[in-house]
Amino acid sequence: ADVNLQEIHDTLLSIAFEAGRMIMAANPNDISTGTKLNFMLTDIARAPSPAVDIVTETDQAVEKMVSTRLRAAYPAYEFVGEETYVAGVTKITDAPTFIVDPIDGTTNFIHGFPNACISLGFAVARRPAVGVVYNPFQDLLFTGVRGEGAYMQRNAALAAAGKLEAERRRLPLFPGGAPALGDLSTALVAVEWGSSRDGPNFDVKAEVFRRLAASKEAGGSMCHSLRCLGSAALNLCAVAAGQVDCYWEGGCYAWDVCAGWAILAEAGGVMADGNPGGWEPAVDARTYLAVRGAAALEQQRALVEEFWRVIGD
Ligand code: IPD
Repeated sequence: ADVNLQEIHDTLLSIAFEAGRMIMAANPNDISTGTKLNFMLTDIARAPSPAVDIVTETDQAVEKMVSTRLRAAYPAYEFVGEETYVAGVTKITDAPTFIVDPIDGTTNFIHGFPNACISLGFAVARRPAVGVVYNPFQDLLFTGVRGEGAYMQRNAALAAAGKLEAERRRLPLFPGGAPALGDLSTALVAVEWGSSRDGPNFDVKAEVFRRLAASKEAGGSMCHSLRCLGSAALNLCAVAAGQVDCYWEGGCYAWDVCAGWAILAEAGGVMADGNPGGWEPAVDARTYLAVRGAAALEQQRALVEEFWRVIGD
């Protein structure tokens, strides 16, 4: 009942910076200079082969640090993390729950592509209430606390260490409020291949991408273009910021979306969840569509409807 969201945000922030130091110390760029980064392909129950779900030792070490710190600070709250999730066993309940992805964008991380983050979410009654998403490669921070707004900060760790002043900007990044949201033909759309590309998964994704990009004559929406940032959390933050208009992915788990969802909601965006089962892992397709803040709610609704129409859902 008396959950202090601001205090939770502050704790998550300090954990995010510590995780950022761990991620940078792992120095994935050393792969190209011959140092072997230890990673393995996992095929645990939730990712049947052929899958490209990659886990590194850093993912596991960061999750351990995060869960140790959170369990010490908030022993009464639940913890769900990507690396310790067990399909069919781990449940997300109505209890206050930390929902954590230690490295979101692991594929980017192992390639040294500087778009990976730690994604720290907190949900109450299964609704995202606090989100902290931190990309240590760019020292870029996104935060959201229910009722308090969402923010982006560049040079975030440097500023926290008192090394420079860094402006904290409220999301979305539109100076005069969110502009009108048109139809898909005027949209920049984020999508992801994700890790499941077996059989129908591949065909569904390829067909969705084709319909979004194709000309209207070819049965598409002719959107401006497609983007894959390689991290669900950073895609959601880009929608929250208004840098892309919407983001669609099939196959996300709670830890992929919890933190970004809290940020998105505080930035006036909406999450249209295509799942009857909500974000419970292992329930169904776990399909998510995030739409940026707009001048009017009807515009968001219209885009969501057009999206489902175009992709045939
Ligand atoms: C993945 C990334 C990727 C998305 C996948 C996620 P991970 O998370 O967010 O962009 O397409 O659905 O599982 O494995 O890097 O933590």
